[in-house]
Amino acid sequence: MSLPDDHPAPPVPDLAEAEMGADPLRQFAVWFDAANRTVADAEAMALATATPDGVPSARMVLLKGFDERGFVFFTNYDSRKGRELAANPHAALVLYWHPLQRQVRIEGTVARTTREESERYFASRPFGSRVAASISQQSAVVPNRLVLEERFVKLAAELEGQAVPMPPDWGGFRLTPSAIEFWQGRPSRLHDRLRYTRRADSTWLVERLSP
Ligand SMILES: Cc1cc2nc3c(=O)[nH]c(=O)nc-3n(C[C@H](O)[C@H](O)[C@H](O)COP(=O)(O)O)c2cc1C
Repeated sequence: MSLPDDHPAPPVPDLAEAEMGADPLRQFAVWFDAANRTVADAEAMALATATPDGVPSARMVLLKGFDERGFVFFTNYDSRKGRELAANPHAALVLYWHPLQRQVRIEGTVARTTREESERYFASRPFGSRVAASISQQSAVVPNRLVLEERFVKLAAELEGQAVPMPPDWGGFRLTPSAIEFWQGRPSRLHDRLRYTRRADSTWLVERLSP
C-alpha cells in the first residue's frame, strides 16, 4: 500500500487471518513500514517494566531496530527502567499509530545488546545527544536545571571536534517477544485483534481475540 505525501485519512483495511504472515516479525515490518510513511515518530513506543514484586512503571522510548531476535531500544542502564529490567527482565511494549487505527502490543524478556551494538548506535547519534547522555545520570534527582546546563556546556567544550566516548552505563536492550498482538480499529467498533504466541518449538500460534 503506498500513500500519497499529504497524509489523507488512509483506508482502514480489515485484519484477516489469511492475509497475516505466519511470522509476526514480518507482519510487524509491514505495519511499521506503513506507519513510517503515515505517522510522525512511528518508532515511539511505551515500555512497561515492573519491579520484582510487581509494581509497574511505563514511559516512552524509541524503537531503534528489530529483526527475528527482537526489538531494540537504547537507554541508561542506571535509570529507573534500567534498574527494573536488571532485576526483572519481563517487559511489554505498545505502539499506536492513530491515523492507521493500529496498535501493536509486544511482551517478552529483555537482554542487553552487545557493547559493540550499543557503541555503533551511540556513534550515529548527533553530538548534542551524545554529550547529553554523557552528563545525564538518567532518572537521578538534580538540584536544578542550571547544574545540567553547566555540565553540558563544559563537556561539549572539552570534547568539541572529538569522538564522545559512550558512557559505561549507557546501551541497548533487546526485547525477545513471547507474544505480539496486532489490533486494527474498524469503523464498526468491532475491531480486529490477532495475537501471535511463541510455541516451545519457536513457531507461532495465531489466535483471534474478542475486541
Ligand atoms: C517520544 C519519546 C521518546 C523517548 N525515547 C527515549 C529513548 O529511546 N530512551 C530513553 O532512555 N528515554 C527516552 N525517552 C524519555 C523516557 O520516556 C523517560 O523519560 C526516561 O527514559 C526516564 O525513564 P525512567 O525513569 O523510567 O528510566 C523518550 C521520551 C519520549 C516522550
